[in-house]
Amino acid sequence: MPVVELKHAAGRCRIECGRGLLGRPEAWREHVGGTCLVVTDTNVARHHLERVERALAFAAPRVLVLPAGEEHKTLETWRRILDELVDAGAQRDVTLVALGGGVVGDMTGFAAATWMRGVAVVQAPTTLLAQVDAAVGGKTGVNLPAGKNLVGAFHQPAAVLADVDALATLPEREYVAGLAEVVKVAAIRDEEFLAWIEKRVPALLQREADAVLAMVHRSIDHKVRVVEGDEREAGGRALLNLGHTFGHAIEAETGYARFLHGEAVAIGMRLAARLSAAAGLMDAAGAERIEALLRDLDLPVDLPDDLDAARLVERMRLDKKNRAGKFRLILLERPGRAVIRDDIDERQLLETLTP
Ligand code: GLY
Repeated sequence: MPVVELKHAAGRCRIECGRGLLGRPEAWREHVGGTCLVVTDTNVARHHLERVERALAFAAPRVLVLPAGEEHKTLETWRRILDELVDAGAQRDVTLVALGGGVVGDMTGFAAATWMRGVAVVQAPTTLLAQVDAAVGGKTGVNLPAGKNLVGAFHQPAAVLADVDALATLPEREYVAGLAEVVKVAAIRDEEFLAWIEKRVPALLQREADAVLAMVHRSIDHKVRVVEGDEREAGGRALLNLGHTFGHAIEAETGYARFLHGEAVAIGMRLAARLSAAAGLMDAAGAERIEALLRDLDLPVDLPDDLDAARLVERMRLDKKNRAGKFRLILLERPGRAVIRDDIDERQLLETLTP
């Protein structure tokens, strides 16, 4: 069973990926002690909760089932988790278990970061996006009406259990959207991994277990190396935002309703690749290669016609990465090598966003 260890400022996090992990008491036992609260949502509970409760029977866990969806990633829902901890009489030895996708993981992680100034959380991600990205690296938080993830904390999980069997029940669209984050990590730092994905498109789309496990393991390994190099995103961790500045603007302009996050990131990655070529950083063949892989994986790559380029640029101005009034973008020098650039002006962005 592949294990990756993440060393961080406050200790170590053990990340296991494998098949059938969630149903195995021994996978949980070394990470869960004292009071245990499992936080999940209605969709995930239907598919996985019974199995997890059985495996965790030794800890007699309490369970909190939250409504599913990004619209519930709020301070009010975070408060519900804290209220549950109050009712449970939880103390510093409590372990929270985040069973679900990125929304459950971020909110439960934030509750763990803030309850009694920080307690243990085990992330049990059940979506591809959460397994390869959101559950690893300690970013936690909730949204405000003014924007995504505006309130949060860095709080590393005690452990991550990434059970790839959980991906079998994911709706097709959600699974494919998660593939965008896999392409992203390959595009920023591993050309060989990109070639590996290109060769296995049918196997990955059919969710063949060996291919999926290898893909999740390699993606997690990359994420861990990036986070170990820059836990608080002072520099290199920002590279993980390839496609995200465009993607967040697209999500915001479409009211977070038209695209899944990974889909918006796929469109954003194609735009970032196109801009990289237009700015003379990468050759056109590199941009075409990224675009072709995204298309082969059934990800959207075209900016919808009804979106206004100037409005998207205004959204991009609000990006958390920007400094001193300059756009800060993640671009590509070649497939497998990303750079942070702050010398792209508004005119170049408008050109990129105009079909
Ligand atoms: N999802 C990007 C990061 O964890 O930094």
